[in-house]
Amino acid sequence: MLNLILVLSGVCTVGMAMPLPDFYSYSLAAGEGSGTEYSTAHVGRITGIRIWEYSSAYIGGIQLSYDGNWTTLVCANYGTQMEMTLLDNESIVQVSGKYDYGYIYELMFVTSQGRSFKVGQPSGISFNFYPTHDGSELRFLSGRHNGYGITSIGAHWAVYHTSDNSVTP
Ligand SMILES: *[C@@H]1O[C@H](CO)[C@@H](O)[C@H](O)[C@H]1NC(C)=O
Ligand SMILES: *[C@@H]1O[C@H](CO)[C@@H](O)[C@H](O)[C@H]1NC(C)=O
Repeated sequence: MLNLILVLSGVCTVGMAMPLPDFYSYSLAAGEGSGTEYSTAHVGRITGIRIWEYSSAYIGGIQLSYDGNWTTLVCANYGTQMEMTLLDNESIVQVSGKYDYGYIYELMFVTSQGRSFKVGQPSGISFNFYPTHDGSELRFLSGRHNGYGITSIGAHWAVYHTSDNSVTP
């Protein structure tokens, strides 16, 4: 039934390369990983997450905001849009999920304040990503997508310094 979806908006682009920040670590991408590379890397601190999920199926799109600015949508904005807005000085400290049939089916983001944002279907093989270093937080996501959905996802962690920009907590 999903192959009936013929029109997809949003051509996904690979984010710009950035110098590695302090206490950087990478959680190796989970999922089959067919298609084009993506990265949400951007200056600033993550302030929000949007996920699109096809009804009872896989994750179609991801979009992050940095200091309140929504960055380029990764993949497809089809299906149901779910959104989490982070509070002041709140950061993502865990990314978990499941993948199946070549796609990411479920994603869960856990914050430094113990809140969580869970979308998708509990189908397939589980993964759990955490930063290696205490005090590090999610800085960006990367992986691959095939234009219909997200086929793999990895997480990049680092300490965020407020002196990186003008936003103070
Ligand atoms: C957000 O957008 C404003 C207005 O365009 C800009 O001044 C600021 O640098 C942007 N911040 C980030 C992190 O993109
Ligand atoms: C921001 O959050 C971090 C980690 O949760 C905490 O250690 C720090 O004290 C907080 N800073 C402020 C200004 O609330």
